[in-house]
Amino acid sequence: MKAVRFHEFGGPEVLRYEEMDQPAPGAGEVRVRVAASAFNAADDGMRGGFLPIPVELPHVPGYDVSGTVDALGEGVGDGAGLEVGDAVIGFLPMERDGGAAEYAIAPAEALVTAPTTVPLPDASALPSVALTAWQALFDLGELTAGQRVLINGAGGVVGKYAVALARRAGVHVVATASPRSDAAVRAAGADEIIDHTTTDVLTAVEEQVDVLVNLAPIDPDRFAALVGVVRDGGKVVSTTAFMATPGDESRGVSAATVFVLPNRDRLSELVSLVDSGDLQVEGT
Ligand SMILES: NC(=O)c1ccc[n+]([C@@H]2O[C@H](COP(=O)([O-])OP(=O)(O)OC[C@H]3O[C@@H](n4cnc5c(N)ncnc54)[C@H](OP(=O)(O)O)[C@@H]3O)[C@@H](O)[C@H]2O)c1
Repeated sequence: MKAVRFHEFGGPEVLRYEEMDQPAPGAGEVRVRVAASAFNAADDGMRGGFLPIPVELPHVPGYDVSGTVDALGEGVGDGAGLEVGDAVIGFLPMERDGGAAEYAIAPAEALVTAPTTVPLPDASALPSVALTAWQALFDLGELTAGQRVLINGAGGVVGKYAVALARRAGVHVVATASPRSDAAVRAAGADEIIDHTTTDVLTAVEEQVDVLVNLAPIDPDRFAALVGVVRDGGKVVSTTAFMATPGDESRGVSAATVFVLPNRDRLSELVSLVDSGDLQVEGT
């Protein structure tokens, strides 16, 4: 089968489009005929060799995947709810081969039924990205209805899911977005939008927030200053794991960093939200 792989760490030039053996599913695994795999920032870091994720070389990137079930490994029976031909999406284990190939191997528990309201290739843009947004807002941020959140970096892929999920949960969403992403962030449901290219976010936030979610590549000093928009006892949550998340002990403002984890039940819920029209997958 055809696959994109890298045999050494480096820039995009290390990617090779080449032949490799079609993989066979082992016990508890499923072979997926790939419709698409998404490209995330961490794919760049893994290919560059600067993320602490132990990949074996050569490696097929693309841990977010959509496709159809092609073969079931031993022990993958009725309990898994998967049959050959089913349309599925999944967040594959990052250290294993991904979906930038004609076929990918997935642990059965990594796969859920794909949304029916978006084209199957587009649905590969959902799994780890929407899970990241969920984990930032609700698992670490513990946001509840009536609270306020500032989502810095809402213009990106995680950000637009975060805006939509927070808004749907009854949270008041203050979002930053450049003119490039303003319309999409507005469509996702932001209550207030601050153009970070022309406005100082620190002074533009009129009322402190319960939670600051940072998704943007800002410098650490800037990030530390932004903690000032969080109320006493509030939370700072960041996905930008390459720098420490600042808090403020003197005011009881806690700091937490997201390391996205697979969660099959949550992913199924996110699929339902896509199918009910509550969550838009970009490109559809
Ligand atoms: N830790 C984890 O488990 C995990 C999981 C997923 C992602 N991540 C990380 O989370 C971050 C967000 O992911 P993503 O995929 O959404 O990235 P992305 O698509 O690149 O989004 C980041 C957005 O930030 C905005 N931005 C850029 N500079 C800004 C600034 N100075 N102030 C405010 N906003 C600014 C940009 O939108 P505009 O300029 O248009 O506003 C950009 O689209 C990335 O660093 C990614 O690596 C971590």
